[in-house]
Amino acid sequence: MDEKTPLGVALVGTGLIARFHAQAVVASSRLKLVAAINPIAGQGEEFAAEFGVPLIRDYDEALSRPDVGMVLVATPSGAHDDAVLAAARHRKPVLVEKPLTISSARADRLIAACAETGTPLGGIFQTRFTDDFRKLREVVDGGSLGRITFVRIDVPWWREDSYYAGTWHGTWAMDGGGALINQAIHMVDWLTALMPPVKDVKSFTATLAHPMETEDTAAAVLRFEGGALGAIYATTASYPGRPKRMEITGTKGTYVYEDTGHGVSRPDQLEYAGHLACFEAFAESLAGGAPYPIDGAAARVPIDLITRIYEENKGSN
Ligand SMILES: NC(=O)c1ccc[n+]([C@@H]2O[C@H](COP(=O)([O-])OP(=O)(O)OC[C@H]3O[C@@H](n4cnc5c(N)ncnc54)[C@H](O)[C@@H]3O)[C@@H](O)[C@H]2O)c1
Repeated sequence: MDEKTPLGVALVGTGLIARFHAQAVVASSRLKLVAAINPIAGQGEEFAAEFGVPLIRDYDEALSRPDVGMVLVATPSGAHDDAVLAAARHRKPVLVEKPLTISSARADRLIAACAETGTPLGGIFQTRFTDDFRKLREVVDGGSLGRITFVRIDVPWWREDSYYAGTWHGTWAMDGGGALINQAIHMVDWLTALMPPVKDVKSFTATLAHPMETEDTAAAVLRFEGGALGAIYATTASYPGRPKRMEITGTKGTYVYEDTGHGVSRPDQLEYAGHLACFEAFAESLAGGAPYPIDGAAARVPIDLITRIYEENKGSN
């Protein structure tokens, strides 16, 4: 493929976030949407018509098409594996919505399947491509805080019951958990990307305000390798919701990030700019440029911490 030919993208899933994916692909000069994939009968027709692409039900049929050069996965989290394993079978580079999958053991399986066929695998954490994260990285790596002693993340959000009722949200099978793995994972990713590995974790999860299987509130304290401590607070039971926040403090200073976006209670108010940056970075890595910063192993790290917290609280919500 020459540099001017856009890379063909197959998008798996045609729901809320897939719409932002499609908009980002349309906005990118180096990508072209060539297929929408949805294995569920009766779903995706309008989406495919709106974006002018064929709707294909079968993963193998879609991913064997020669015009597909990259796969985006935007199905419910518990259904990511099927799409990733299909991409690995067809050696089609695959970029997967957060969370990569719903447990560290399942992440291992996906990473191994992609490694076996030499298929590039990446995780989508669009907030990694923001000035806010770049600034945090600069502050932490630059040493201006001195010895880091404590870091905390707060995701004090609100979701109505209707967000959970009769949907895959908040189910073990398809969401893999609740507030922690769905809403707070972007901040857990920042935490684990910026800090040394988590050595010890003690935590509680609870279901306090919604009729759902998994937790709507989680609290954890952490000890990182090297000695710093930390805390995670994640909830969808804090009406009306406050911006997510990260505080890092050390012997020479304190840095506080507070979100100014729309993430509190309206997932439909996302913007596609972060996804566009993510997709272009992945495409750039496929074209021989800089490695994509969130490969399968990196996308697994926040899942591993969340899996540890869920294991500690098994059966106690
Ligand atoms: N990056 C972000 O900020 C962000 C925001 C929202 C959602 N997400 C992630 O995107 C993914 C999808 O979330 P959503 O809000 O778009 O969900 P959604 O329910 O709006 O859409 C899910 C899509 O997958 C299809 N689908 C349902 N069950 C399926 C199955 N078993 N196999 C294959 N396809 C199936 C549905 O028809 C639908 O098109 C989730 O992993 C979620 O965590 C990420």
